[in-house]
Amino acid sequence: MKFTYFGHAAGYLETSSERFLFDPFLTGNPKASITADKVAPSYIVVTHGHSDHVGDAVEISKRVGASIITTFELANWLDAQGAKTFAMNHGGWFGFPFGKIRFTIAFHSSSVIEEGGRPLYLGEPAGVVIHTEGKTIYHAGDTALFSDMRLIGEDAPIDLALLPIGDLFTMGPKDAAKAVEFLAPKRVVPIHYGTFPVLVSDPKEFVVLAGKKTDVHPLMPGESIEF
Ligand code: NI
Ligand code: MN
Repeated sequence: MKFTYFGHAAGYLETSSERFLFDPFLTGNPKASITADKVAPSYIVVTHGHSDHVGDAVEISKRVGASIITTFELANWLDAQGAKTFAMNHGGWFGFPFGKIRFTIAFHSSSVIEEGGRPLYLGEPAGVVIHTEGKTIYHAGDTALFSDMRLIGEDAPIDLALLPIGDLFTMGPKDAAKAVEFLAPKRVVPIHYGTFPVLVSDPKEFVVLAGKKTDVHPLMPGESIEF
C-alpha cells in the first residue's frame, strides 16, 4: 500500500480497494500539495476538531459521498453541517469491509473557535489505528507524549506510524523519538511540522534521534512511501 503526505497532518493511504484521507487541512494550508477538489477518498478519517485537522472534510464528504470516521461529538457536529459521518469512541474497534479501525487516546484538546473567540468543545482528541490488508497504520493525531503508546505498539506491530514532531502544540522531536521507543513501529513518517513559522521547521533532529530505533521517512508534501 502507499501513503502520500499532503502536508501538516494530512495524507492519503491507498490500499488495493480504498483511499483513506487523514485530517484534510488543504485549503489555507501553505504546504498543501493538493487542493480539496482533487481528492476522491473512499473514507475520511479525522482525529480532532481543530481547524488544521477538520479542514475541508465536510466539503469533500459532500462532494464524493465519503463518510468521515471520527469521534462521537465531532461526528455529530460534522453531521449537522451535512457531511456523512461514522461516529466511534476511544478504545473500541469497528469492523468495516476493508478491515477495522479504532481510536486511541491523545493528550491534546479538541475544539472549534466560534465567532467572538469562544471555543466550542468537540469531545476528546484522538489518534487512530487502522488494520487493513494485513498491515497496521497509526496516525497519532495531535498529542503530547504518553507512556500508554506502549500498549498501542504491543497490540499489533505497527507498519507505519505518523507522528507529530512540530513542538508547541504537540510532541517535539525529542518526545516524538521517545514515542518511537514506546510504539516500536517498523517505519515512521514525521508530520505536523514546517507548516507555519512557529513549528519546528526541519525534521533533522527527529531523524537523528529516532533513526537509531526505526526507519524514518521524512516526506516532502506530495511525496509517497510504499510499504
Ligand atoms: Ni490540534
Ligand atoms: Mn494540529
